[in-house]
Amino acid sequence: MATNRTFTMIKPDAVENGHIGGILNMITEAGFKIIALKLTQLTVADAKAFYEVHAARPFYGELVEFMSRGPIVAAILEKENAIADFRTLIGATNPADAAEGTIRKKYATSMGENAVHGSDSDENAGIESAFHFAGREQF
Ligand code: PPS
Repeated sequence: MATNRTFTMIKPDAVENGHIGGILNMITEAGFKIIALKLTQLTVADAKAFYEVHAARPFYGELVEFMSRGPIVAAILEKENAIADFRTLIGATNPADAAEGTIRKKYATSMGENAVHGSDSDENAGIESAFHFAGREQF
């Protein structure tokens, strides 16, 4: 059953470039309610665990290094049809393919450094939310 929640990270590139406010504004303007929010940093071990599903892919090492190199913003978002609508809002993985009006079109710089993460299923949203937030941090 759909939970109407998704999990997102504003990735190190976007935090470094000063885009936290701009991205959160696009998210709330699109109708998402913020249920949980924090500035944090993944250790290398955290990033390896979070992206373990991609461990066999050629970019895994690069992805782990990138995601652990600086602070990120982690958040849980709520909206009807949250998973699909948020994937639409962030745009294609490769910013060159991202549609106008999407977060990656505006803020991503490359395939590897693409500004935001969005969960791909209700199940993964739950797993990823629990990875970052205790129950008492979720409103
Ligand atoms: S998805 O959501 O699984 O369909 O996306 P996918 O395109 O398979 O990518 C999975 C995550 O890996 C990141 N990625 C890359 N990182 C570095 N280099 C390259 N070439 C690359 N290609 C994909 C991509 O940003 C996805 O990360 P998240 O955090 O899920 O957005």
